[in-house]
Amino acid sequence: MNTRQNGQSTETTSPAELAWDSPGVASVPYKFFFDQEIYELEQRRVFRGPVWNYVAIESEIPNPGDFKANFVGDTPIVVARGREGAIHTFVNRCAHRGALVCREIRGNSMTHVCIYHQWSYDLEGNLIGVPFRHGLEGKGGYSSDFTTAGHGLQKLRTASYAGLVFASFSAEAPVLEDYLGDVARKWIDRTLNRPIRALGYSRQLIDANWKLYAENVRDPYHGSLLHLFNATFGIARVSQEGAVTMDPSGGHNVIHARKRTQEQETRAYSQEKIRSYQKSFALADPSLLQGEPDPLIDTTTTIQTIFPVLVIQQIANSLATRQIIPKGPSRMELVSTFFTYVDDDEQTVSTRLKQANLAGPAGYISMEDGYAIELVQQSIVHGGDYASFVELGGTGRKLEDDLVTESPIRGFWHCYRELMTRAL
Ligand code: FES
Ligand SMILES: [Fe+2]
Repeated sequence: MNTRQNGQSTETTSPAELAWDSPGVASVPYKFFFDQEIYELEQRRVFRGPVWNYVAIESEIPNPGDFKANFVGDTPIVVARGREGAIHTFVNRCAHRGALVCREIRGNSMTHVCIYHQWSYDLEGNLIGVPFRHGLEGKGGYSSDFTTAGHGLQKLRTASYAGLVFASFSAEAPVLEDYLGDVARKWIDRTLNRPIRALGYSRQLIDANWKLYAENVRDPYHGSLLHLFNATFGIARVSQEGAVTMDPSGGHNVIHARKRTQEQETRAYSQEKIRSYQKSFALADPSLLQGEPDPLIDTTTTIQTIFPVLVIQQIANSLATRQIIPKGPSRMELVSTFFTYVDDDEQTVSTRLKQANLAGPAGYISMEDGYAIELVQQSIVHGGDYASFVELGGTGRKLEDDLVTESPIRGFWHCYRELMTRAL
């Protein structure tokens, strides 16, 4: 495959056309964002590969029988709390002839019954009921060697860390703690420093490939250029004291920023005449940004990403997980679960709810993200031989103590490329 960037032609190297270099992962073929074959390959190699996919917050399903329907990649799954309290995950596809078994997003039920022919399953996905299994009046039914044990729902490995539930199709994925690694665990421990509960959800369909969003949340460069609200009201500015960090795989990243003085932060925007900083703008209702800082969280903004689909968001007092769900090569869904600490008082919960307006489908900050990556998708489908240019801050994956970098994006692509090209 040839790729062209700024008119220059470069050769990619993998026979499978999936490894690319020159200059490494700092140039990503646009084909990766719309090609059906690549999409299907990444379902197998990434989402059903040796990774842990975020699927729930433990406290969303506190009681035996509580369940949540979700996806791992584009495979429908169910996360259910068992009779003994353990959490189980299984594929939401009937072992008989493939119908979706669980049709609600969440609820409570001690069994899951497929409506097509009424096969029923327990909370671990085991088959427990088959109508007319022995036929009727000596006729029909299944053969004598049919066993329920051989026809359960496909089970996934399930594990939790700091109240977050992850699932994996792969026996090769390391234990969850090791998969997350020291760097990601440190930041999860800091944000999820005490028990949490979900406050509510937002869901957003975006007509763009899921990896464009994975790039977006690893991109400190756009944070104050695309988002007028960020730059104007000091939520995130590249001129803030900030840093990017990542684990050795490159897939798990953290972008974090702290306020400096208004003058230190805005001088660069004025000098560069950047339109997203509007000195004269003021909030008609300043209470939006008047939350008390959490004593254990000393950043204005922390966006943590856990490969492949989880984002942990802390923007001022707004806390949320975001899950990226691929819906085909050119479509994705973004599901945000806003949460609060269990011990928060009423005033703090109210602030977190109000600041939920910063993110989400119509959020003051994140409204532009969906639009920006749709603009990319619309354009690159006509540029299959071209590639993106991801060289801000160099071409490698070094950790940086400034925010004028695309290093976390290169980290994501490094991790993705390892999975897509590894020998099986
Ligand atoms: S497809 Fe589910 S019982 Fe037949
Ligand atoms: Fe953004």
